[in-house]
Amino acid sequence: MSYSLDDFCDQTRAILLQNDDHDGRESVRQKLELLLNDPTFCSTYVGPDCDPGVNQIFEDSNLKFCVLTYNMAESRTSPPHDHGGSWAVYGQAVKYTDMTIWSVADNDDDKIEPVRRFRLEPGQAGLFDAGEIHSIQYPDNAKFVRVTGVDMSTESRRVFDPEKGTMRKIEHVGTGNVR
Ligand SMILES: [Fe+2]
Repeated sequence: MSYSLDDFCDQTRAILLQNDDHDGRESVRQKLELLLNDPTFCSTYVGPDCDPGVNQIFEDSNLKFCVLTYNMAESRTSPPHDHGGSWAVYGQAVKYTDMTIWSVADNDDDKIEPVRRFRLEPGQAGLFDAGEIHSIQYPDNAKFVRVTGVDMSTESRRVFDPEKGTMRKIEHVGTGNVR
């Protein structure tokens, strides 16, 4: 049975209206996996003919959650970051993304250490709840979808340098630049 972007957005809206908490976001993660296993969605939004770049393909006018596609020509390793007060669900379409989860040291909010690593393969989605710190790494030509609770250009967020043990706050970086 096919599962469209409209199906995903309608079900995400219904889930969040009832349950905008960890359990609800986990349900959204599962729905994103359904979407990533739909051939029509994948060929339209993260297929071989899609132009490289980041595109917002949906923003809910009421709840404000956003769906973005990432068709990335070049590999990238992001610094560890959070998504401000928002949650994020990342779902892989092509190639893979290696995720690292970080935790803040007990005695210093600027210092972090890695606590868990895992790889998202095509068709798999991962939830990063509000305030959770992660970094991502993907190869050339990776393609993925990201859903956030709000437009990230409206959120200030933390970006860490684990080697220096420093943290900086980033304000209003603009949609599509937050990974
Ligand atoms: Fe992120």
